[in-house]
Formats: sequence, C-alpha cells, structure tokens
Amino acid sequence: MDNVVDGSSEPAGPPRTDVLTSTYWQARYDEGRTGWDRGGPSPMLGSWLEAGILRPCRILIPGCGRGHEVVDLAARGFDVTAVDFAEAAVQNLQTRLREKQLEAEVVRADLLEFTPPEPFAVIYEQTCLCALHPSLWHAYEARLRQWLLPGGLLCALFMQTDKPEGPPFGCDLSAMQRLFSETAGWRWLGHPHRIDHPMGLHELACVIQKTPIPSLT
Ligand SMILES: C[S@@+](CC[C@H](N)C(=O)[O-])C[C@H]1O[C@@H](n2cnc3c(N)ncnc32)[C@H](O)[C@@H]1O
Repeated sequence: MDNVVDGSSEPAGPPRTDVLTSTYWQARYDEGRTGWDRGGPSPMLGSWLEAGILRPCRILIPGCGRGHEVVDLAARGFDVTAVDFAEAAVQNLQTRLREKQLEAEVVRADLLEFTPPEPFAVIYEQTCLCALHPSLWHAYEARLRQWLLPGGLLCALFMQTDKPEGPPFGCDLSAMQRLFSETAGWRWLGHPHRIDHPMGLHELACVIQKTPIPSLT
C-alpha cells in the first residue's frame, strides 16, 4: 500500500505536520476511541433512501471507518467503493461483508492520493471532512468534485463542533458554503438538516450537486 501515510511507507522528504496520519487513526481503533461510530448506519442514510435521493448506483464512501453504511448499501444493490487508510477499519469492514456474503470494493488508501478508475454518481461523505486538517480541505474538495460525474451528488454529514484543535474539526455551514461554492462548481439542493450524534454533537446533512455543465471560467 504505497500511498498510505504511515511511518513505514511515507516517501522521503519533509514531514507532513499538517495531516493526521493513518497511524493516528489506527491507534484510535486499537484503543477503542471511536466515539463517532454509531454501531449501525446513520439515520440520515435511511432518510435519503426513503426520499429517493439515494437509489442504486455507483457510490463512493470516503473515510468509511467500520462502514455500517457500506454494508447497508451493498445489501440494497448499490455498487459501493469504500476507502479508508486505517487497517483496522478496512479489515473490520471486509470481515463483515464476507460474513454477510455481500460485495463491495474496499480500498485501503489515503484519500489525498486515491484515484478511482471511473467517476461516481454519488459520494456519501459521513464525517470524513471533519477528520482532515482544515489546511487539506481545498485539496479534498477538488478531489470530491473530480471523483463525481457531472450532475453527481455529494450527500454529506458535516460535524458541528467548535473544538479548534480537532479532530473533529468543526464544519460550520458558512465554511461549507464557501468550500462547496457555486464558483467551485457546486449547487446546494434543499436545506441542511440537523442530525443528532451520539458523541453529544450534531451533524448537518446536506445534499450538494456537482454542477451538470462545467463552468467556462
Ligand atoms: C471520524 S472517522 C468517521 C468514520 C465513518 N465515516 C463513520 O462515520 O463511522 C474518520 C475516518 O476517516 C479515516 N481517514 C481520515 N483521514 C483519511 C485519509 N486521508 N485517507 C483515508 N482515510 C482517512 C479514518 O481512518 C477514520 O476511519
């Protein structure tokens, strides 16, 4: 796994002090410090399915963690690709998929280097952005856009917190509207919806579309 940021595989050069590494996240899984994990799919997944916003398609789940949503969507016939750079997360998900005899592509990779062979109709982004240092947000936003088909949907759950040292780094609405802006090639659909999180925080559920026709600017 060449593109995973960890002590053994990081290329020579200056250390990336601005990024939380796979070693950091692996340690959180090893130590059971996974307060973000609901133990099952987010209720918002069910709402988006019920509303017909999510229909079987080629879908990406970046920073999937233990991937409860991956299992649920795979069982519903979605063509799911799930990415995480923590070995524990990937292994846990692969084991559960095997036990349930379900298929999904599970990739261990750094999202800042991940290059899928084809774009996706939908990206389900559940508290992955808030796990990235804000200095990486622009690079990640550009990747999300690149990974989507024109007109594709970003179904996002943005964690709300004011803990500046993170993670989670707060993804407040105005910052998200600036990041996923019209000039950057995004269009917001409907209104953000508040979802309580077991950590005592809450998320904003937002549906943002990659504009169907690329801007000429
Ligand atoms: C807060 S957890 C959320 C996990 C999952 N989405 C959930 O809601 O249960 C963030 C996840 O993103 C992964 N992650 C963070 N930065 C990453 C990166 N640069 N590349 C790949 N995965 C990353 C971590 O390993 C962790 O599993």
